[in-house]
Amino acid sequence: MAIKRSRMVFKPLVFITSLLPLGWLIFALYSDTVLGTKYMTADPIQKLDRELGDWALILIIISLTVRPLAEIFKKGELVAYRRMIGLFAFFYVCLHLSAYVGLNLQLDIDEFIKDITKRIFITIGIITFTLLLPLAITSTKGMIKRIGGKRWQKLHMLIYPISLLGVFHFYMMVRADFTRPSIYLAVILVLLGYRIWAKRKKSRPKKVAAA
Ligand code: HEM
Repeated sequence: MAIKRSRMVFKPLVFITSLLPLGWLIFALYSDTVLGTKYMTADPIQKLDRELGDWALILIIISLTVRPLAEIFKKGELVAYRRMIGLFAFFYVCLHLSAYVGLNLQLDIDEFIKDITKRIFITIGIITFTLLLPLAITSTKGMIKRIGGKRWQKLHMLIYPISLLGVFHFYMMVRADFTRPSIYLAVILVLLGYRIWAKRKKSRPKKVAAA
């Protein structure tokens, strides 16, 4: 009962919090246009696209931290928020892609195809996006049932290579300051290390018992 009540509070909270970056970007664009502020720098389209890509990656990383936090603090109910965070990550990736194709390239599809084939970091971005698609499609309860929990879990392990590809995509577009992608990479590697350690720890007693 207490868990149900806390979900009723935290689910809308996670929902609203995940929308805050988008709300801020809309406000900043409005303020720059109407009030003449300069939140979005001299190149608002580039700033918008970068911010959306950044938030997509941050949300992917946050979704990866949910299970370790739930296990460390013995709060299994936290896992209930992971799906929503993951779907918001996908939402920001879609906005990132739409901003790039719609605003940056002005819907020039030939240019987009040229970009995919000629600019490696865009190729990596598209591969990452393609890998995210099956995770987004299979995120409904019906799909989890249809695929089966074990297979669904295996499929969703893709989120680790996806996060690494996202960071790789970021590294490849940066020219000078590698601080942020390096921080993201360090966090992902710690989370991946934890996952491997937790899996080994879980399977150890079974092996001992079998012996
Ligand atoms: C769907 C295909 C994708 C395309 C076409 C694409 C395109 C781009 C472009 C053009 C930029 C540079 C923006 C600029 O300098 O104007 C960029 C930056 C970035 N993208 Fe993507 N991207 C894609 C997928 C992704 C995915 C899946 C993620 C996250 C997992 C991601 C995360 C990022 C990040 C973190 C940056 C750098 C942001 C910053 O500088 O702060 N992108 N992307």
